[in-house]
Amino acid sequence: MKKIFLTLLTAFVSLSAVAETSGDLVKRGEYLARAGDCVACHTAKGGKPFAGGLAMATPIGTIYSTNITPDKQTGIGDYSYDDFQKAVRQGIAKTGDTLYPAMPYPSYAVVSDEDMHALYAYFMQGVPAVNQPNKATDIPWPLSMRWPLAIWRNMFAPEVKAFVPTAQDDESVNRGRYLVEGLAHCGACHTPRSITMQEKVLNGQDNTTYLAGSSAPIDGWTASNLRGDNRDGLGRWSQQDIEQFLRYGRNDQTAVFGGMTDVVEHSLQYLTDADITAIARYLKTLAPQDAHQPVFKADDSVAKALWKGDDQKAGASEYVDSCAACHKTDGTGYKRFFPQLKGNPVILAEDPTSLIHIILTGARLPSVAGAPSAVTMPAFGWRMNDEQVANLVNFVRSSWGNTQASTVSASDVAKIRQQDDVKGQLGSSSIDTLEKRQ
Ligand code: HEC
Ligand code: HEC
Ligand code: HEC
Repeated sequence: MKKIFLTLLTAFVSLSAVAETSGDLVKRGEYLARAGDCVACHTAKGGKPFAGGLAMATPIGTIYSTNITPDKQTGIGDYSYDDFQKAVRQGIAKTGDTLYPAMPYPSYAVVSDEDMHALYAYFMQGVPAVNQPNKATDIPWPLSMRWPLAIWRNMFAPEVKAFVPTAQDDESVNRGRYLVEGLAHCGACHTPRSITMQEKVLNGQDNTTYLAGSSAPIDGWTASNLRGDNRDGLGRWSQQDIEQFLRYGRNDQTAVFGGMTDVVEHSLQYLTDADITAIARYLKTLAPQDAHQPVFKADDSVAKALWKGDDQKAGASEYVDSCAACHKTDGTGYKRFFPQLKGNPVILAEDPTSLIHIILTGARLPSVAGAPSAVTMPAFGWRMNDEQVANLVNFVRSSWGNTQASTVSASDVAKIRQQDDVKGQLGSSSIDTLEKRQ
């Protein structure tokens, strides 16, 4: 008996010693790197994963993400654990320089030590080393000096602090909050920023600003309000709607576009069901920013008029000619293929940037595991002039129960057409052709 007990005990002790072998740790680190979407920023278009070199526009010039492969010469191969965690959670490079906050270290500050160790193991042992020197920024001197960044960091980046679960929420909601506020850095796009560029708040405790939508477009797209607002937020989405959107980039109402496409494609589609559920459940706890938003009410008078062949309303004939084949006369679209425009938060949002942008350039749904069809919305920017696009925007914002009081003018469309992100996609030659035609 004693012998059996002893054998069991030794087995148990040795088992726990290897409970997290380095292989497991590296695997867990890989998963966390997905959750943090490190690859999206640290990989140039067509470049090797994590070797850096992706250009990122800032108000003072272009910066490039850095090589975070374990290459000793050009990457982070000689970073100790402490060097690594300082860069990721505090924005301080091994040289002592402060990083540009394009690296979302203010969010990563809440990542636990345990998760940081797993990430370190993955970047040192699981990522192939790539020898690729970092690119210098295009920012001219004296703006290129980094010491003002240290002042910014001291003022706005939080101290590394252990994440504190809240007592009123269960384990899953707390897990969702840990991911959203931390590694998944959802607030980096979805929380409004101050003039000094910091996110107004970094978590949802006792405020309704967190995740209330970006204050300025990011790469030409507005990141929507993720709070419980009835019209432009997630108030009318069930937990399941949110889960499907995060996992597949589409649900019965909408489909992913703009900067969110990368998030679904490189990060969220790889998360476990439990983590996706945790994120969705946490988002459902966020109270509306504006609790008095009038409730969305469907109205079929425009659809009825169009069915009768009456397209007198401005923008109606453009809609019938160019949009109705996919989004239907009544704006309900085709589930999982062509999003519903009726009651769509993107259309009910005050800021029309995303709506104008998607009409001009179109968009392509990513193909992800479980939803392999990559459906496309064609670009209309080279077929329609600014006035036609403005009419269409006003039409969809005021049909089927959508009521957006502010109207869009041709010059609003012209401004968006001139943005680099839009121009780049349409190609300047096609815009010239259009201008000649007008
Ligand atoms: C939204 C874009 C973005 C994401 C997401 C991102 N990074 Fe970064 N990261 C950057 C940029 C840009 C820099 C360079 C900043 C600079 O040069 O000041 C950087 C710098 C770094 C550095 C410093 C490297 C050095 O040379 O000192 C490390 C380490 C790093 N990132 C690791 C990570 C890890 C790990 C993740 C995922 C958990 C991650 N990053 C996610 C944009 C990003
Ligand atoms: C790189 C910027 C960026 C990051 C990071 C980001 N988002 Fe988004 N997100 C956007 C943009 C832009 C949109 C608008 C386009 C769309 O609806 O697909 C959006 C849309 C959404 C929508 C759809 C809302 C609607 O009303 O249609 C949800 C839900 C969402 N994001 C959740 C998240 C969550 C959760 C995270 C963190 C895991 C996150 N996002 C991180 C940019 C981002
Ligand atoms: C060939 C089919 C097709 C046509 C024609 C079309 N669309 Fe789309 N539309 C799509 C698809 C597919 C998406 C999803 C794209 C994505 O998410 O990347 C989409 C997305 C949208 C969205 C974003 C909604 C959301 O929740 O994701 C709006 C707004 C929109 N279309 C408006 C229009 C308007 C206005 C027209 C007419 C000028 C039009 N579409 C013509 C297929 C089409």
